[in-house]
Amino acid sequence: MRDFSFKNATDIRFGKDHIDAELHDAVAQFGNNVLFIYGGHSIQKSGLYDRVKGLLNDLNVVELGGVEPNPKISSVRDGQKLAQDNNVDVILAVGGGSVIDAAKVISSAKFYNGDAWDLVVNANGADSYKLDEVPIVDILTLSATGTEMNHNAVISNPEINEKIGTRVPETPAISFLDPELTETVPARQTAAGSIDIMSHLTEQYFDRDDANDVSKGMIEGLMRTVIKWAPVAIKNPSNYDARANLMWSSTMALNGIVSVANVTGWTVHPLEHELSAYYDITHGIGLGILTPRWMKQVIEDETTLPLFARLARIVWHLTGDDDLTLAKQAIQKTYEWNASLGAEMTLPEVGISDDSKFDVMAKAGVEEGQLETAGYIKLTPADVVAIYQDSM
Ligand code: NZQ
Ligand code: ZN
Repeated sequence: MRDFSFKNATDIRFGKDHIDAELHDAVAQFGNNVLFIYGGHSIQKSGLYDRVKGLLNDLNVVELGGVEPNPKISSVRDGQKLAQDNNVDVILAVGGGSVIDAAKVISSAKFYNGDAWDLVVNANGADSYKLDEVPIVDILTLSATGTEMNHNAVISNPEINEKIGTRVPETPAISFLDPELTETVPARQTAAGSIDIMSHLTEQYFDRDDANDVSKGMIEGLMRTVIKWAPVAIKNPSNYDARANLMWSSTMALNGIVSVANVTGWTVHPLEHELSAYYDITHGIGLGILTPRWMKQVIEDETTLPLFARLARIVWHLTGDDDLTLAKQAIQKTYEWNASLGAEMTLPEVGISDDSKFDVMAKAGVEEGQLETAGYIKLTPADVVAIYQDSM
């Protein structure tokens, strides 16, 4: 196993009883001027908006609502201006990954006088600009991204068809994870979130450090958890155990713990980011379409077969001696599980019915993911076009 350092300072408050008792002080400890960021209407509908406003009624709260799924740089720019004009001390982000990702970039954009897009394009974000950051407190309402306990933010710029992942210096200061708040997430979005969690685990599982059994074992356990509980949450949205298991899995899948010592980069995410950049599709749905096709392509390299066979045996409970057969069965299982959640499984089903942009998307995806050098299996733009074509 390679050397590594691991530190994650996010204070997690998991469960039903933390918000009412602790939100006020969690926010107020950083100051009185609060920027409250949220998305469309889901928190108004669920009553969470009023609850939060009630809890913070003695603080100076300015609001940035309407942050879009696949958050747009225009919202981040609006947040940057609000943060500067009101000299905010703390950001409270309430929503899914899109809201929290936007909040992350705004938190350092407050201290930047240029265009916030600069902080996204620069892969180290505010770090390399040596900017300060406003602390973030968040209330997560959708289990998917892991943003509640990581350094990542993914922002879209529709004017130039770019969706870019960046890193911010600090993970959120405090994340409130109440599974009950996810009971209103619609079935399709629950499917998308669960597929996203599975994809994060898959991207980190297919790694060339074969000696890292700790990470692989943790990933297998988390995969089995998501495979078990996502269908339960879709069938019975108010099943607390299902929502709780999905929520903690989403956090654990991408807070850095299961990827320590990894050597290989991610592949399917950069390819999906291109789909969302050009067609604004739901992230998890795009991953669910591309993942089995990527798997089909990489098992052509027989060095990948032992790990696929391990996945088949431990995660999908398949038996047999032939690694290639097991690998193919694991891919089929992956496809069937995604489809069983009700997710669309081809690009035309999500409105991508012509291949005219595949070349330019493939080139950009290979560049973003450094797939020709850092992928589990190295991919050229032509290989990526083949994955997109196979998804039609
Ligand atoms: O906007 P509102 O009205 O809140 O509705 C949202 C949105 O329409 C709705 N929703 C959220 N919580 C709800 C709810 N509806 C009912 N009840 C609730 N409790 O769900 C829709 C999608 O929300 P969004 O935040 O976009 O979903 P998600 O959490 O899946 O985030 C997706 C974004 O995160 C990025 C993705 O690329 C995408 O932009 N990612 C971020 C990562 C990270 N920061 O580490 C890693 C991921 O791989 C991913 O790339
Ligand atoms: Zn993802």
